[in-house]
Amino acid sequence: HNGINIAIDGPAGAGKSTVARLVAEKLGMVYIDTGAMYRAITWKVLQEGRQAEDDGQVARIARELRIRLEPSEQGQKVFADDQDITSLIREPAINQQVSTIAQHAAVREQLTLLQQQMASGKGVIMDGRDIGTKVLPDAEIKIFLTASVEERARRRFEELRTKYPDLTLEKLKEEIAQRDHTDETRKESPLTQAQDAIEVDTTGMSLSDVTARILEIAERFK
Ligand code: C5P
Repeated sequence: HNGINIAIDGPAGAGKSTVARLVAEKLGMVYIDTGAMYRAITWKVLQEGRQAEDDGQVARIARELRIRLEPSEQGQKVFADDQDITSLIREPAINQQVSTIAQHAAVREQLTLLQQQMASGKGVIMDGRDIGTKVLPDAEIKIFLTASVEERARRRFEELRTKYPDLTLEKLKEEIAQRDHTDETRKESPLTQAQDAIEVDTTGMSLSDVTARILEIAERFK
């Protein structure tokens, strides 16, 4: 599958990154998590003590920050100006601000170009919100991965509960719904299913079922 690109889009917590990583491994493709790139810019904005709404400063940071993704055992390491920020970008503070950062046109332009360069040699499986619609409209395979908001919140909760004891399922559900709303209603390339994407609703499906389903779709392009 090195001659094709696969785009996986969908709302927060649908399991895109876990599935994309497993499929990439199976097919010998390179996995790229574009959400991590929006998170890296958010991390830098917060680290500098800037406001997520500050157009000028956010645009400057998007232009200057050198983001590098590196494959690792766990999926992917993320570096910002050579600092390893892989775990820092998963903090709750980042979750709360990242959708605001992702609304800035300057941020989207910068990251879209970078993502297009990364996929230009094909053999890439890329997950995000606008990959099938905007970043790689010519991707050979497009998947739109969804699940009910209850199920997505429950999966995230299981993942995070030991690390963040204060977290409640209700709080997570609210945060996920809020982030989806911001992503779906923003002006620049909002989260939406591409016309030629195949929808996979993973509510009630196990991870291995979902992976098998995507591999089955990919088989058609061998
Ligand atoms: O995928 P993840 O949950 O890490 O993405 C974090 C946020 O980054 C999303 O909620 C969205 O606001 C933004 N994002 C985006 N376009 C992408 C990937 C992520 O706007 N292609």
